[in-house]
Amino acid sequence: MGTVIVITSGKGGTGKTSFCGGLGVALTELGKTVLCIDADIGLRNLDIALGMTDSVLMDFSDVMEGHCLLSRAVATHPGIPNLSLLTAPLSLSREEGVLSDFASLIEEARTQYDYVLIDSPAGLGLGFRLAACAADEAIVVSMNDLSAQRDAQRVLSQLPPTIPVIRLVLNRVKPRLFRRLGQTVDDVMDALGLPLLGLIPEDPAVLLSSNAGRPLLKGSDKGAARACRNIAKRITGVPVPLMKIGRRGMIV
Ligand SMILES: Nc1ncnc2c1ncn2[C@@H]1O[C@H](COP(=O)(O)OP(=O)(O)OP(=O)(O)O)[C@@H](O)[C@H]1O
Ligand SMILES: [Mg+2]
Repeated sequence: MGTVIVITSGKGGTGKTSFCGGLGVALTELGKTVLCIDADIGLRNLDIALGMTDSVLMDFSDVMEGHCLLSRAVATHPGIPNLSLLTAPLSLSREEGVLSDFASLIEEARTQYDYVLIDSPAGLGLGFRLAACAADEAIVVSMNDLSAQRDAQRVLSQLPPTIPVIRLVLNRVKPRLFRRLGQTVDDVMDALGLPLLGLIPEDPAVLLSSNAGRPLLKGSDKGAARACRNIAKRITGVPVPLMKIGRRGMIV
């Protein structure tokens, strides 16, 4: 049975979608089969982060409404056979019963993939509740700013109590900014009361690769790509030391 992980944050723009795509690819590099599910109804963009905009035809509402089987609705990555995507609809035709229907879809998916990664939308609305309803683990993606950390606290209070493992990924880390703020990674962990799964440095490659329609990890083992690989290893139980701050204040 596969592991279902929801990637969430509360605040918008913390890097959930970029991280979900990077983590998905990194897990396939470790020999895992991965289904990424975009739960951002109306504002989906995980297909862009994965370089799969031309591949998606069906979405998860097609499965929930019985229009097609899960196996037909998922799109396989053109260059990464172990990576699939189930995208979000632009809208839902109903709200009643969708949580239990989505949970059934997830239960089916976990029988077919080693990892099911669900990219939650910002906020605490229906998309967030769908994304979290059947998860075994949660990853909260936060950043330096206090508003991101406050929203993360709010998310923690709204996650289903049935999720036993909740970990923190600190994204867009700029060591110099930490110094100027007089903040440490430990301070953020203490504020949220979460164990750290990994740090992802600020890295222009995230935007550049996404805009070029190419997965972040394709051909790169630096910066954010390396951070995603390290996190994938930790998720699969391989201990990897945290990235270090190098001589010029960069994370290496
Ligand atoms: N580590 C990083 N370094 C630099 N830019 C990043 C990093 N992570 C994400 N970004 C950029 O931040 C922006 C928001 O990223 P992304 O869409 O992944 O966030 P999100 O949390 O999914 O947003 P939303 O809440 O709207 O769904 C994008 O322009 C992305 O390229
Ligand atoms: Mg997103």
